[in-house]
Amino acid sequence: MAKQLPGTAESSSRVLEQLRGKQVLITGTSGFLGKVVLEKLIRTVPDIGGIHLLIRGNARHPNARERFMNEIACSSVFERLKLEDSDGFDYFLDTKVHCVTGEVTEPFFGITQSKFDHLAGQVDAVINSAASVNFREELDKALAINTLSLHNIAAFAHSGGGLPVVQVSTCYVNGMNSGQAYEAVVSPAGAEIPRSPDGFFEIEELTSLLQDKIADVRSRYAGKQLEKKLVDLGIREANHYGWSDTYTFTKWLGEQLLMKALRGQSLTILRPSIIESALAEPAPGWIEGVKVADAIILAYAREKVTLFPGKRSGIIDVIPVDLVASSIILSLTEAFLEPGRQRIYQCCSGSSNPISLGEFIDHLMEEARSNYAAYNHLFYRQPTKPFIAVNRRLFDAVIGGARIPLSIADRLLKLMSQNRELKLLRNIDITRSLATIFGFYTAPDYIFHNDRLMALCERMGSLDQTLFPVDARQIDWATYLRKVHLAGLNRYALGERKLSRLKTNKVRKAA
Ligand SMILES: NC(=O)c1ccc[n+]([C@@H]2O[C@H](COP(=O)([O-])OP(=O)(O)OC[C@H]3O[C@@H](n4cnc5c(N)ncnc54)[C@H](OP(=O)(O)O)[C@@H]3O)[C@@H](O)[C@H]2O)c1
Repeated sequence: MAKQLPGTAESSSRVLEQLRGKQVLITGTSGFLGKVVLEKLIRTVPDIGGIHLLIRGNARHPNARERFMNEIACSSVFERLKLEDSDGFDYFLDTKVHCVTGEVTEPFFGITQSKFDHLAGQVDAVINSAASVNFREELDKALAINTLSLHNIAAFAHSGGGLPVVQVSTCYVNGMNSGQAYEAVVSPAGAEIPRSPDGFFEIEELTSLLQDKIADVRSRYAGKQLEKKLVDLGIREANHYGWSDTYTFTKWLGEQLLMKALRGQSLTILRPSIIESALAEPAPGWIEGVKVADAIILAYAREKVTLFPGKRSGIIDVIPVDLVASSIILSLTEAFLEPGRQRIYQCCSGSSNPISLGEFIDHLMEEARSNYAAYNHLFYRQPTKPFIAVNRRLFDAVIGGARIPLSIADRLLKLMSQNRELKLLRNIDITRSLATIFGFYTAPDYIFHNDRLMALCERMGSLDQTLFPVDARQIDWATYLRKVHLAGLNRYALGERKLSRLKTNKVRKAA
């Protein structure tokens, strides 16, 4: 039988006991995952001491509290909480949610050092979910948020006397490695990077080299050209060291930075695979934005894409967002129960409940064919063509071959002062662009393992397994993809309606 974590009887929740009265700082709550983590904590751990949200101001809302009330608290993610206990929700926001206007990429989060130290003294742990998830981000921006900002997270943890940190990373730090991918430090698949005897990789020289290259590009270009050059630089460097894109490369660098900076302290690196809509909580299908697989589904639904590079037999690793939020909360609890250790967990489905890309496509196609009218924001009419995944070489040959005569025709039309855009050419360009960004993810070549996360879940006991489910074996792919995810995309990502602000606007609190 699995060893129980110390502390409590099997029938009680270790999570609820450990988090009672605790103060937690969370970054990234204006994003998809951060919102679900926040909602889950408010709904399931009401006795938590306080939740501090580090939010940067934007042009409309320079103040974190104002941005929180106008962009986060009114999200449909809180619909369930409001329906169940609207006054309780408002009261929680008023008394336990504290918003800090700050920028995680700046030293001391861009606030004064004394405020920074004071805040660190107030909180008990950090969940860092902020990131740029743009696969082709400009290298300087990706490096700042996904890697270098972790110096500030580590400084915060030190200032608080060794605060446990849960760092949200990604399974795709595995880059161009292939095969079985375990919950361990990942070795680069490309150019060598020195490894420390402590297990992580030494990245200081590499990050300063990257900064020199960024400075060089900045000195030679400006405006849009500069942006493009910084995107190209990111992809080039990522490919050189063994990653397909700048996002995953800089997230891997971030893991190394934190493992070194928090040596001997509590650090949990939590790597989700591709996060998709909620399986059950706060509502089946809840999702925000159109990302990765959804961008391709949407392009297909709008009849822009029918051919895509992909490996039908490859295991596509998708994980519902509520399972990821629960795994973050379990990791946080474990850090309180057994502090002073570094751990890596993967929250994924590939090893325990695999689904191939081919099956994934077939489920969605079948639903689109038989039930398209139920998803009126997604499908404007019944799709007439199949979605075909072919190997990269064939894709390049077909798309490249079709593009040549079409672009000649397009140029001729322009010469004849015909301002008509060729629809087929436009669709080919959309397909090519999506394939460039996401092609790596539709030709999956590894299986992500989550044995350690499952062991943690087992150690936590049966009540926490029910309250904070992380087990991907509970997903019935046909139901999830066809009835939950497509409905969620249709309702939340494409038909998002903001909740009434009447209630939440009552709550005002200075940052
Ligand atoms: N989505 C996925 O499929 C997926 C898969 C695996 C891992 N992950 C990881 O999960 C975490 C959350 O991802 P997500 O899908 O929730 O992303 P998201 O919706 O794009 O949200 C990103 C969050 O990070 C913040 N952020 C971005 N750039 C920032 C900057 N320069 N300074 C301060 N804050 C910044 C954003 O704040 P603003 O609103 O102020 O920009 C936002 O709150 C990330 O760490 C990501 O790497 C995501």
